[in-house]
Amino acid sequence: MEFKFNFAAAGPPEEQGAERPPAEAGRSCAGLREHRLAQEELERRLEAGLVEELEVGGPQPIQIRHLNVWLLEQALNQGAEAESLDEGAEAGLRLSGAIASHSDLVPGVYEGGLKIWECTFDLAAYLSAVLLAGLRVLDLGCGAGLLGIFALRKGAAEVHFQDYNGAVIEGLTLPNVALMEEDEPPLDGGQRPDADDGGRDGEPPVKRRKSPPSPPPPEPGVLSRCRFFSGDWSRFGKVHGGSFKYDVILMSETLYNPDYYGDLHDVLCSLLSQDGTVYLATKTHYFGVGGGIHLFESLVKQKKVFDIQTVKVIDDGLQRCIATMSFRKDKPS
Ligand SMILES: C[S@@+](CC[C@H](N)C(=O)[O-])C[C@H]1O[C@@H](n2cnc3c(N)ncnc32)[C@H](O)[C@@H]1O
Repeated sequence: MEFKFNFAAAGPPEEQGAERPPAEAGRSCAGLREHRLAQEELERRLEAGLVEELEVGGPQPIQIRHLNVWLLEQALNQGAEAESLDEGAEAGLRLSGAIASHSDLVPGVYEGGLKIWECTFDLAAYLSAVLLAGLRVLDLGCGAGLLGIFALRKGAAEVHFQDYNGAVIEGLTLPNVALMEEDEPPLDGGQRPDADDGGRDGEPPVKRRKSPPSPPPPEPGVLSRCRFFSGDWSRFGKVHGGSFKYDVILMSETLYNPDYYGDLHDVLCSLLSQDGTVYLATKTHYFGVGGGIHLFESLVKQKKVFDIQTVKVIDDGLQRCIATMSFRKDKPS
């Protein structure tokens, strides 16, 4: 798929996001939805889909199977999926238009979840040395959901997936997770970590909990450890953050648009547990769009809620990096 940011093509604002302030009214705001698929529907999608395999993480990568998006794109193109997802006729039409125009993303309509972006692979490689077993993980802006799937393979207790578009969640993320059902057991044995470990030289620090609850008992299927949400992340933070906090939040390629930074910061505030960690992977700079790690870092520092640290720089073509965030000990209450 050609790399194309299509900001000019954004459609008229949707009415669902009643909480969005007028200054941001040019951007639509999809309402929050939780998604489940009946077994038959899931099977239909898996049978109709073309399954591919990718190597993710390292130094000994694991294979993750996922659906090729071509068929889904065709269906979205014709408006069929959007209609069945009950996204509303107008929203469905705009989503179809965005897919048909082959744009990488159209702000407020389609936010790029059908493509697997390259920083996903950087973050998975970094996470290979991080213990995730027994933790509650959020894949924020998940798209195909590879990072969340990687966390499941590393024994995360519970993984939630969130994407802007319900069509991406139902057509791609959820079936991709379901493909795991036949995969091997967790890489890290599914044990919840139990002590602090600062990490060895050159390796990321391992986040461990001091008083571990017992590891969760084995569960029947991987889907029982997962939940799936669509809609604008600011609504997700407001609605979901009151009742649920995550030990780990994963984000890849969510910093392209500086207009989103305020919301993103607040969402992380609402959803991260007090001793949790955000791992984010991003291009250092998104040419033509203006976003990047330095701008986001400035905003984070200005807000004085989180410590943010660049832990890895990847100098291979367009510079990319990985950063971690955790609550400042002296954060204002
Ligand atoms: C460029 S894609 C990256 C997808 C995936 N993380 C990857 O690296 O392959 C950006 C992701 O952020 C999500 N996103 C962007 N803006 C959002 C918003 N306002 N609310 C919720 N999700 C949003 C999109 O749904 C999309 O999946």
